Amino acid sequence: MSTSKTFKLDGKTISFNDGDTIMDAALRAGEYIPHLCHNPEFTPHGSCRVCIVDVNGRQVSACTQPAMAGSEVDNASDNIMRQRRELLQMLFVEGNHICPACEKSGACQLQAVAYYTNMLSPHFTHFFPRRTVDASHPDTAIDFDRCILCELCVRASRDVDHKNVFAIDGRGINSHLVVNSPTGKLGDSSFAASDKAAHVCPVGAILPKHTGYDKPIGDRLYDRQPVSIVGDVAAHEQEQEH
Ligand code: SF4
Ligand code: FES
Repeated sequence: MSTSKTFKLDGKTISFNDGDTIMDAALRAGEYIPHLCHNPEFTPHGSCRVCIVDVNGRQVSACTQPAMAGSEVDNASDNIMRQRRELLQMLFVEGNHICPACEKSGACQLQAVAYYTNMLSPHFTHFFPRRTVDASHPDTAIDFDRCILCELCVRASRDVDHKNVFAIDGRGINSHLVVNSPTGKLGDSSFAASDKAAHVCPVGAILPKHTGYDKPIGDRLYDRQPVSIVGDVAAHEQEQEH
């Protein structure tokens, strides 16, 4: 495949292949574009919008927008970073993200991207939705408080595990993650801790049991280096298992 086509990302020349999105080409070139619902192993979803960039004056999601030869992509202006911050602030107030009490703190991509964009407060009024914890499975718990509806578990369970354990139900503000089982409980589904879906959640919504605080706070993925350097938490967790 030819890599002769290029675009500019914040002034840097980035080569791309036919069919690449801006995100594909940027990540391959070692350039970070903030993202939450994107995982290069899955079909782009384009739902979190945190990867918003400006292409020749038009704002698009980098994970779904095909790279265009000769285009100028702004990934770092104050305006783009402000919009990302606002999207993150909305994610924080829509759920119950109590970082100091979360086992994923320090290895959470939502938290890490918020730091990256210099988000200092939630700004908006908290919704404090009433959500539950599903601890019915012997090896894995779901804390629905922390789900950001990225659908990575949905895609992983459907496309890799071929089980369709997860789905999103409802619309707009009422959208929520559901488990496909007779009782709606994870423990009554065909989910297994070895499933791909158990290892893709970017936040602390799908958590393994029996391993809480194995890695001390201060020694976690994003405690020492920013997300722009170390990348996705799911990729690291997968590496550690192999
Ligand atoms: Fe995404 Fe995790 Fe929610 Fe699944 S449980 S939709 S992976 S945030
Ligand atoms: Fe592109 Fe979520 S990472 S929309």
